[in-house]
Amino acid sequence: MADLKINFAGIKSPNPFWLASGPPTNSGYQIMKAFDAGWGGAVWKTMGLPVVNSSSRYAGIDFGDTRMMGFSNIELISDRPLSHNLKELEEVKKYFPENPVIASLMVDTREEWHRVVKDAENAGADGLELNFGCPHGMCERGMGSAVGQEPDVLKLIVSWVMEVATKPVIVKLTPNVTDITDSAIAAKEGGGNAISLINTFQSIMGVDIDNFTPYPVVDGKGTNGGYCGPAVKPIALNMVRNCAQSPYIGLPVSGIGGVSNWRDAVEFILMGASTVQVCTAVMHYGFGIIRRLTSGLSDYMDSKGFANVSDMVGKALKNTVAWEDLNLNYNVIAEIDNKKCIGCMLCYAACEDGAHQAIGIGSNGSRVPFIIEENCVGCNLCSLVCPVEGCITMVESKSNTGFESWKDRTASGNIPKTFDDPLAGGLSHRVTEIEKALRKMK
Ligand SMILES: Cc1cc2nc3c(=O)[nH]c(=O)nc-3n(C[C@H](O)[C@H](O)[C@H](O)COP(=O)(O)O)c2cc1C
Ligand code: SF4
Ligand code: SF4
Repeated sequence: MADLKINFAGIKSPNPFWLASGPPTNSGYQIMKAFDAGWGGAVWKTMGLPVVNSSSRYAGIDFGDTRMMGFSNIELISDRPLSHNLKELEEVKKYFPENPVIASLMVDTREEWHRVVKDAENAGADGLELNFGCPHGMCERGMGSAVGQEPDVLKLIVSWVMEVATKPVIVKLTPNVTDITDSAIAAKEGGGNAISLINTFQSIMGVDIDNFTPYPVVDGKGTNGGYCGPAVKPIALNMVRNCAQSPYIGLPVSGIGGVSNWRDAVEFILMGASTVQVCTAVMHYGFGIIRRLTSGLSDYMDSKGFANVSDMVGKALKNTVAWEDLNLNYNVIAEIDNKKCIGCMLCYAACEDGAHQAIGIGSNGSRVPFIIEENCVGCNLCSLVCPVEGCITMVESKSNTGFESWKDRTASGNIPKTFDDPLAGGLSHRVTEIEKALRKMK
């Protein structure tokens, strides 16, 4: 059976699943309950000068039957006194010595950073996470993402922390930047031992169109908040990949952003994360989701022959290349399984109006559409809209020739160089002539 134990920048954990800093890690009671359920580690709700929060403070976006596909908050860091948090942290460590507790910290001056780092370490924290990501409320006070967006300031503050820290220091990055690797490089140059990403995206979740107020509404007014949950996972994955692939970083990565099930976690690990952190999914479903997370990961590792989590970290990176390195001679075309088709015509509408007019209808009075192979560019759209699993598959075209990338074609001069160049890729695709199109519209 797979071994889920990990060592993240010197922090040992029974499994790679950590609670991200947030409401589920607000108190010792919650963190002990989570460890008891099976969570590997926990990053305490960010501590600093206690704040005062607003009511209400959360908003969600539903999609179809799925509630909270996206989630937003205007909550600040911990509103509890530092001494209360640290006393409870000490207690948690007494009862759960094997589970790492990471102290998330956010303060302002060098003196304050020195003080909170020492206090957190004295309380028994196994590591420190520096919150340079909060994109609302705290940034207006010169902290959180205000630091994360300024690599020089980030580097300086990490170096202040490193002056006194004896435990591993994880730098938590904001996604509200143009290139997150700039922040990660600054974290490394400042002396940080690891990075975690992402924190939330600055956002406006929606607007109450009757009362003209953004959500969440606080006594008739609203403000921008931090966006997270399943909807942000693709962006987080790309940022994790960018940091894990950069030759200038080389720090362990803790992946965060929309992890809701074991598959999400596996994807983050394959993209280079050595731990994954979860916040919204726990706020939605509770600590119990850990059972499926660990069993799913363990079964996956067994099925793939991975003995340890570290064996699978970054496994998908070698197949994640720049666009210019993709094989332009490779073609797929759509294939419809007539037996599975329910005749809904979604694929026809999508391809006809939104793609390449490569799906025909009305053959022998049948409601099953057919693929016009010479028009199909293999874009995938029809297979994505088809509501029946396995009904439209993309199959390799028989006309595939040898590998040739854009880089190769550029090197051999085999690329379009003028606006009307005969090498334009689209010249081989059939486009309905204007006259015929007008006749069709009549
Ligand atoms: C209500 C709420 C409060 C949060 N508070 C903190 C915090 O105090 N410190 C911090 O570093 N991140 C905080 N976060 C961000 C999460 O730790 C995490 O980075 C983000 O939500 C993305 O993960 P998710 O999609 O699993 O929620 C908070 C998130 C939410 C939803
Ligand atoms: S893959 Fe794209 S072009 Fe081909 S049939 Fe489907 S939607 Fe049309
Ligand atoms: S979307 Fe799928 S089920 Fe619907 S008509 Fe097309 S192939 Fe058939």
